[in-house]
Amino acid sequence: MPGAPTASRAPGWFRTAVFYEIPVRSFYDSNGDGVGDLPGVTAKLDHLADLGVGAIWLLPFYRSPWKDEGYDISDHFSVDPSLGTLDDLDRLVAEAHARGIRVLGDLVTNHVSIDHPWFQEARRDRGSRFRSWFLWSDTGKEFSRTRVIFRDFEVKNWSWDETAGQYYFHRFYASQPDLNYDSPEVRAEMLRVARFWLARGLDGFRCDAVPYLYKREGTRCQSLPEVHRFFHELRAMMDEEHPGTVLVAEANQSIPETVPYFGEGSEFQMVMHFPLMPNLFLALGENDPRRIRHVLRATLPTPRGSGWAYFLRNHDEVTLEQVSDDEREMFLWLYGRDPRTVIHGGIRRRLAPMLEGDDETVAMMIAFSLSLPGAMFLYYGDEIGMGDRLDLPDRDGVRTPMQWTAGTNGGFSEATPERLVRPLVLDPRYAPAARNVEDQRTRPGSLLSQVRRLVQVYSAHPSEFGPDGIHFVEPGSSTVFAFWRVGTARRILCLYNFGRERSEGTVPLDAGLTLGPDLLAGSATLSRRPDGLDYGLGGRRFVWLGFSASPTGRVGGD
Ligand code: BGC
Ligand code: MG
Repeated sequence: MPGAPTASRAPGWFRTAVFYEIPVRSFYDSNGDGVGDLPGVTAKLDHLADLGVGAIWLLPFYRSPWKDEGYDISDHFSVDPSLGTLDDLDRLVAEAHARGIRVLGDLVTNHVSIDHPWFQEARRDRGSRFRSWFLWSDTGKEFSRTRVIFRDFEVKNWSWDETAGQYYFHRFYASQPDLNYDSPEVRAEMLRVARFWLARGLDGFRCDAVPYLYKREGTRCQSLPEVHRFFHELRAMMDEEHPGTVLVAEANQSIPETVPYFGEGSEFQMVMHFPLMPNLFLALGENDPRRIRHVLRATLPTPRGSGWAYFLRNHDEVTLEQVSDDEREMFLWLYGRDPRTVIHGGIRRRLAPMLEGDDETVAMMIAFSLSLPGAMFLYYGDEIGMGDRLDLPDRDGVRTPMQWTAGTNGGFSEATPERLVRPLVLDPRYAPAARNVEDQRTRPGSLLSQVRRLVQVYSAHPSEFGPDGIHFVEPGSSTVFAFWRVGTARRILCLYNFGRERSEGTVPLDAGLTLGPDLLAGSATLSRRPDGLDYGLGGRRFVWLGFSASPTGRVGGD
């Protein structure tokens, strides 16, 4: 097909692509067995292409007893039968690539399912070669400084195993024993797993629970130098054997502990920006964006060839581990007053309900994430403002079936397990009848239309919204956050009002900027003076404005 897009792996492709996260079981059920599947994702690729998505991240689709949404793998080399076959994956990859969409898998290195044959053999026989693939103890007292992550469900990181006659270590659920990375066999096996999926055409991986692979007595058992060495080795293999593929780190840590995952350009190309995420919501709640500037100043620029992965929501709870106790209290007061939302110290809520169901605020937050240097990861369903289901256990309430149509099952059948669809929909404002793709696709002004338009504008300005460079501006308003993105021919002024009330101010303009403003997205009242731009911005509203750069002009700001 002449002119058809292809999924190029040109250097740095990932720093301007829009990523889209898909829990396969929740996306689209192609065969009516009640479970979303890989052919279902293939069937819906046109929705993603239409949205302008450049890459999808598939949550684990490997064989699993599904005690933790597939993050408990029992065979790393097959597709779970409920989701399809290897052929289905091949078809999905080919169809995605034909639409210019890359496909990332999820590489779960830290642990396996308790059902995995490796663990089954290891627990049965102290002499098994797999015994040393896991961490055992007679006392369960080692590594006592290790944080318990699923703290609402687990009290310890060691569980007694009757068959093994020893305790085994698990960072997450007891049904997910941790692998022992001091075993060279384990390390080699994980590289083999990565190679297997790369050879099938995957364009890279989001890497799960990155900081936790190694345990050392007396430490908190996270982000140890050995962890960096392992991922450095994985990256080197990928660069060598599959150039242009990408590694994205899930490392939910403080700024000083998160930044090193870029490894000065030789480790992860992308790192999820966990330190920024809660601050965006706090800034909105406090009508004050100053905290955002602090985080961005401390985390930009990223090393050459790398970029942050910004996200607003994902398939987990909003984690609040990277904020202070006071901030957490404030966050819970703002967004988690219903005690059912609180889990593991964070909150299990979708984007739209956190933002009071206001499409314009959702659009502003998506615009904000798109406009920073780096790339954005959009969580499925947030483009139509899906809601959460607090009656479902654990994090299932933010993993409900994608709402394709007004029908309550959104493409899922009667056979859908209760965890995926229940007749009771708690809040009619977010029900499929109120929010679905079919309706929003063609309705101008719908959230989906707005997000599609934002992605279009973003993609049409790869030089301005490029991987580097952001110039903060003093906007003359305490609730407005402002910056320039500077391209070769144009500059884009981005203004975001984090306050609830309308705000006015003036942005200094360099005299050389002769042309503009051009309204690219959002809305504001504007009046141009020779040396500045007077603006009025509604509460929780934003605007992107294009200006022509003069060859000699100075940008203004810093
Ligand atoms: C994933 C979670 C998962 C955990 C254990 C993560 O951080 O995002 O969904 O439960 O790792 O694999
Ligand atoms: Mg199915």
